[in-house]
Parts: sequence; C-alpha cells; structure tokens
Amino acid sequence: MTKFTDPVFQAQNSLRADVNYMMEDFLGAEGITSQEIEAIGQGIQTGVQSLKLRRSEMAWRDLPYGQASVVEEIKKFAGAARERFANFVVLGIGGSALGPLAVHQAVNHPQYNELSREKRGGPRFYVLDNVDPERFAALFDVIKPEETLFNVITKSGSTSETMAQFLIIRSLLRQVLGERYHEHLVATTDREKGNLVNIARAEGYHLFFVPAGVGGRFSELSPVGLLPAAMGGIDIDGLLAGAAYMDKWISESESLWDNPACLRAVLHYLALRRGKNISVMMPYAEGLKLFADWYAQLWAESLGKRFNLKQEEVFAGQTPVKALGVTDQHSQVQLYTEGPFDKVINFLAVDRFRQVVDIPKDFPEIPGAAFLGGHSLNGLMEAERQATEYALYKARRMNTTLFLPEINEFSIGQLIYLLEVETACTGELLGINAFDQPGVEEGKNATYALMGRPGYENKREELAGAAAKLERFLLRRKQA
Ligand code: PA5
Repeated sequence: MTKFTDPVFQAQNSLRADVNYMMEDFLGAEGITSQEIEAIGQGIQTGVQSLKLRRSEMAWRDLPYGQASVVEEIKKFAGAARERFANFVVLGIGGSALGPLAVHQAVNHPQYNELSREKRGGPRFYVLDNVDPERFAALFDVIKPEETLFNVITKSGSTSETMAQFLIIRSLLRQVLGERYHEHLVATTDREKGNLVNIARAEGYHLFFVPAGVGGRFSELSPVGLLPAAMGGIDIDGLLAGAAYMDKWISESESLWDNPACLRAVLHYLALRRGKNISVMMPYAEGLKLFADWYAQLWAESLGKRFNLKQEEVFAGQTPVKALGVTDQHSQVQLYTEGPFDKVINFLAVDRFRQVVDIPKDFPEIPGAAFLGGHSLNGLMEAERQATEYALYKARRMNTTLFLPEINEFSIGQLIYLLEVETACTGELLGINAFDQPGVEEGKNATYALMGRPGYENKREELAGAAAKLERFLLRRKQA
C-alpha cells in the first residue's frame, strides 16, 4: 500500500464541498430552493443517469485506472530524462498546456526554476503556450537547446501554434546537434491522426499517446499531463489515486446531495437559469492560481455551445472569470458584492499551507498595526477568505467553496476529476455536447486558410470575400 492508497491518508486529504451559500436558507430569495431542485428532478435524474450510461463514451473517466503500463513507461522515461537534461519545455496550447501548467504550479515550489538543480532534483520547467515571437525568442536567452528536452503535445497533431513551435525547435536542434537532434524531442499525440505521429515515427522521437476518446481539456490525467508532471518530479501515482478516489465518491453516491460534482452542476445550472451568467473561480492560494485558467478553458469550451443535442439554437454557457484571493479582493470583489446579480463565485480554500509564516509582535504603541502581531500569514489568508465569503453572503451573492486539506498530488487529482465531472454533468443538464468545440475549429480552419495550408483554398476565398465587404473604421490621429 502506498501513502496515497492508505485510507487514513485518504480521509485526511479528502476534499470537502460547501454549497450552503447557494441556497435559500442562507441567501433568502436570492438563493436556490429545494423545490427548484425537485422541480428539475427528472432533468437531474436524466443528466446523472446519462452520465453513468454514457461513461463508455467518456474515455477520460477511466484515466485514473487502466494506464498502468503507460504510467510505468512515463516514470522510466522521466527518471532518465530528469538526470540528463537541464531544461524541460512543453510546446502546446489549450488542453495541451493549461493542465501541465496548473499542476506544476500547484504541487511544485513557487520559485521552482530559480532553485538550485540540487534542490529542484530535475530540469527547469517551461510551458510555451503562445506564439508571441518576443516570448518565444526570449526563452533562448535563458536556456540552451542542447541541454533541453522538448515535449511537443498536440492531440490533433496539426494545431498551427504547436506545429509552428515544433518546426522552429526541430530546425534549431538540427543546427546545434546534427543527427542526434531527435533525442531532444518527445511527442504526445493521437496514435493515428495528424501529422506529428508520422513525423515522430519517421524521425525516431520517443512517443506517448493521448488515448482515443479523450479530448484536449479532459486529458490532464493522460500522458498529456502525466509526462510533464513526472518531469517536474511530481508523484503521478498520487494524482491518479486522487482522481480514482473522487471517481469512487461520485460513482458510489446514492443521492444527489452526496455527489459533489453533480450537486455543484445542478446548482450552477439553476443559477444560470436565474441569470447568473458568470462563474468566477477564485482560489485562496497562489499555488492554485493557474487552476483558475485551467477551469476557465474547461468550463468555457465545454459549455459554450450554439446548438443543443437536438440541434436547436440555444447559445448556452456560463462565462468563467479568473480571480485570486486575496489579491483580487482589492480589485474585483467590489464588483462581486455590489455589481449585477449575475455571478456565482467559486472559492478554492486550503486548510493547511505547506509553510507557516508568523507575523512578529511589534509597535505596541500603535494598536492599528500591533493587532496583526502574533498571528500568521496563514491566519490572515483564511480570515480574508472568510471575510469575503461573509461580505458576499451579506450582499446575498451566490458562492461555493471547495476545501483542499492541503495542496498535494492526491488533492489535486481529486480537484481535476471533480471539476471535469461537474462540467460534463452541467453539459448533460444543458442538453449540449460538452466534448466538442466547433467554435474553436472555425478559428483553427481560418488560421490554416490565412497561412496557406493546402485544402483550405475555399476557406481563404470565404475570408477574402468577408473582408472585401467590410469597410473598416479605424481611428488614427491626424498628423499636423
Ligand atoms: O480542449 C480542446 O480540445 C482544445 O482546447 C485543444 O486542447 C487545443 O485546441 C489544442 O489542440 P491540440 O492538442 O490538438 O493541439
């Protein structure tokens, strides 16, 4: 038994979900009533039932299990590569970048890349999730390609941003390393589709596969996320054990009230029906800041749909907003407490931070400063979270909290899995397909056309036609 499968460890590290501040009992007329939940009872049953029935269509739900040989291969590969390379760089975007970033930031040291190699125990960690030329070029002011392993991650094997980065890096590596360039490339992609798999096979890169039926934003627990995590020294068994624990909790719940993912989905769905068009993700932990980015993609790309499953136009979705406690108390919380009644605020709270920082007792003659002494930053952080929650409650604003006993692999695995199932369940209630992204595909295709990809000539004409029809109004300062 590992620590992650020990029932005592699991009980001590189990997430808790608080949804009280969504309900009428706490918020009065602004809250959701049990009757409302009852009234969509059939919808819930159908939604939850359909999640169970369609589980076979949701390959990502089985990622916590059944990857034993891949997990072993990842550990073996990462073990050797962590010794060999000074830097590890992910080339990817969207679902191929946000998960690796979020997990790395959560579990690893906040100043990871600045630590000594000895303290890090492995290579520096970078994720290039944009094609901004300044940022791209700047990376090579701080790393040497010949000391670096590049992980090209693209499920489709054809995304313009990732493939462009790959082409540049491959050419650079060939210049610097000659024949041995392929040892510095590892690809994570679909087993059959796309161009990357063929290139990787032909040129002899180490290859990992995104399992069939696992979409980009639901792929963090596949090699997409597991390899970068292992390269950063994260215990991937812990991530998977946390996800498996959450899956068991969700799957074995007899009632909706015991099921954190489906209950949160139902409440968000009902909130949306009451005009709460915005869902704010606000972690009270710097380490979870990028989880808000990961959630934003999951929620936006999965639920933002023009058509429902019956092909009726519905324009569904709830806009995700990223915030950070306590920082955004001094920026966004004013809007949340006194602005429009159009939001649900989702806090992520941490019971035990991995560091305790005490505030010294000082300035006894200045009571307005002295009161902080003897407390800790931990206490201040928690007091501020509770204070914000209270301010929202007083202003009758819907809010929820997910408590992580501590940030570690096990709790992060639970959080990923919970939010994925919550998103899928909300999709079922909305009657939409949460697993496609036709709006993103349109943009991808237009990019191919503009960049001259063969086969996209008609799209290029379509774009040119649209541009010709528009007379753009552009403001310019008149020169004297
Ligand atoms: O969730 C998704 O499917 C998308 O956000 C993709 O992850 C993103 O577009 C990148 O695609 P790919 O991994 O095919 O390069």
